[in-house]
Amino acid sequence: MDEKIVKKAVERALKVRENAHVPYSRFKVGAVVITGSGEIFEGVNVENSSFGATVCAERIALFNSVTVGRKDIWAIVIASVLDGKAVFPCGICRQVLSDFNPEMEVILVNSDSGEIEKRVLLKEIFPDNFKF
Ligand code: THU
Repeated sequence: MDEKIVKKAVERALKVRENAHVPYSRFKVGAVVITGSGEIFEGVNVENSSFGATVCAERIALFNSVTVGRKDIWAIVIASVLDGKAVFPCGICRQVLSDFNPEMEVILVNSDSGEIEKRVLLKEIFPDNFKF
């Protein structure tokens, strides 16, 4: 993993987080996926008045990448904060991400400090993934 790209992705995740559409929870999440060739795709959580229609930042970042044909996901950066700590991706996002690469790195950024708080592999936090 090119650490310069990770640094850039962290900055982008923190910045794009400001665009989160969160009229209900006020809980902003910014996400950036990094592809094998070092490209970056962004996402934010987009909430809806029909709550179940809300989509997490992680899936929007991934779907933006897939939309332009980039499916080799190496890492995802997630920027947010809850009770002073960076947040892990939800279960649905773990499943969706794991279909593309269970080995990808998950980089958690504390959006208060702007610092990386944790780096794990997806397979460590989502073992025994369902794969059809
Ligand atoms: N959310 C994300 O964007 N990513 C996660 O991993 C956890 C939850 C969003 C969805 C919703 O807009 C808000 O956070 C509260 O659940």
